[in-house]
Amino acid sequence: VPEKQSIPGLDLHLDLTGGRRPGRVLEEALRAAVADGRLAPGTRLPPTRGLAADLGVSRATVAEVYEQLLAEGWLRARVGAGTWVAQSGVPVPAARAPQAGGPRLADMRGGVPDASLFPRRAWVAAVRRAVDAATVAELGYADPAGVVRLRHALAGYLARTRGVLAEADRIVVGHGVGELLALAGRALAARGARGIAVEEYGHSEHRAILRAAGLEPVALPVDGEGADVSRLAALGVDAVLLTASHQFPLGVPLGARRRRDVVAWADSVGGYVLEDDYDGEFRYDRRPVGTLQSLAPPRIVYLGTASKALSPAVGLAWAVLPDELVAGVLAERAGLSQPRDALNQLALAHLFEAHDYDRHVRRQRAEYRARRDHVTAGLARRVPGARLLGVAAGLQCTVELPMGVDAAAAVAAGAARGLLFLPLDAYAAPGAAPRRPAVVLGFGASLAVRALADADLAVDAIAAATEAADRELD
Ligand SMILES: Cc1ncc(COP(=O)(O)O)c(C=O)c1O
Repeated sequence: VPEKQSIPGLDLHLDLTGGRRPGRVLEEALRAAVADGRLAPGTRLPPTRGLAADLGVSRATVAEVYEQLLAEGWLRARVGAGTWVAQSGVPVPAARAPQAGGPRLADMRGGVPDASLFPRRAWVAAVRRAVDAATVAELGYADPAGVVRLRHALAGYLARTRGVLAEADRIVVGHGVGELLALAGRALAARGARGIAVEEYGHSEHRAILRAAGLEPVALPVDGEGADVSRLAALGVDAVLLTASHQFPLGVPLGARRRRDVVAWADSVGGYVLEDDYDGEFRYDRRPVGTLQSLAPPRIVYLGTASKALSPAVGLAWAVLPDELVAGVLAERAGLSQPRDALNQLALAHLFEAHDYDRHVRRQRAEYRARRDHVTAGLARRVPGARLLGVAAGLQCTVELPMGVDAAAAVAAGAARGLLFLPLDAYAAPGAAPRRPAVVLGFGASLAVRALADADLAVDAIAAATEAADRELD
């Protein structure tokens, strides 16, 4: 197969460099060409047999690509009449058609992972091994900190991949970062902590959880270097919650100087840093940003989750605690609910031990990176006035809109195309400094088969909102 190909009769070029599967390249090229109008509605596509011969691929490959694009609504076909580009241009796939109870939107909110990538086979194998190998003791009441085997596996994995300094007996397993934040927050409050600084743009549920735990959240400004930790002393807080490796949702890593400064602050006032390393595994362009935890284990509560790399349905997350907080966190748990899901935890332990977790993360990183590249290229082409933040890592980016474009208009244009994403404002804490209008665009959640089409629709929505704003200006 030659590396660069043109499709006869169509202004369409295929780039088969990089060893990618020709079917995938053809599918993406056709979809993109329909989405951006290079292939106009009604354009006839070559018959599968001829195109297959021209491209030097099997006819089944071409037929499968046509089938996929038919199913997505980009193409139409009738037996005997061939295949052509659908009239609507940019389709709203059937599954998104308005239904009773309102339209179903593709979830492109920040941070939501693609559950369709869940490694079903590896998970089933891990569950089987867990059940087969469980000792009688493991089938009884679990250790309140979580299953020992999983905590050992986590200690090794976190040290290897994130440089976290952890022994199994400082790890507590929970059902999500939210639950662990609640336990840590209550343990801190019980020791007399009151104020906790939280990044002024962030996860609103986490602010609410900390408040419910008895702490008072105070907004901490975020700029191009991440959270401005030089304000901590003046705020008089006892703790701070940081997304240090990839600020959620603005995407900057905490600057090197600030990393040292926050540790110095914690040491000097006896404060604690809650480090939410929610997507530390998904870094694309640079060497991984190290964890704060590795700088000062006695002052840092490190939090991680299986929700992004596997799925929220696994329902497992972990905290690596300073020695002096372990008893307090377990005491808070004793008053609430003890873990009763040892089999689930054992399955995750087996997944780590078989290195299937690493393998899956690696595969997913490649997939998300391709989506990230697609969104970035699409926006650069169609909305050059937009500025992208946070694209070096994670499952979302923040798109600062061109001058004069309203975030609500971009969100509405997305909804009209069957997409759900939110304005940056939706992530703001009370008192946050206003920023240039922006939307937070996730490229995680939409089904794998539709991800690039959804990304194109999102780019199209932002372009449409921009064009409408430009018209208004004229
Ligand atoms: C900043 C941040 N932390 C943590 C989480 C979720 O972790 P979990 O599912 O374990 O509660 C999310 C999920 O979107 C997130 O955005």
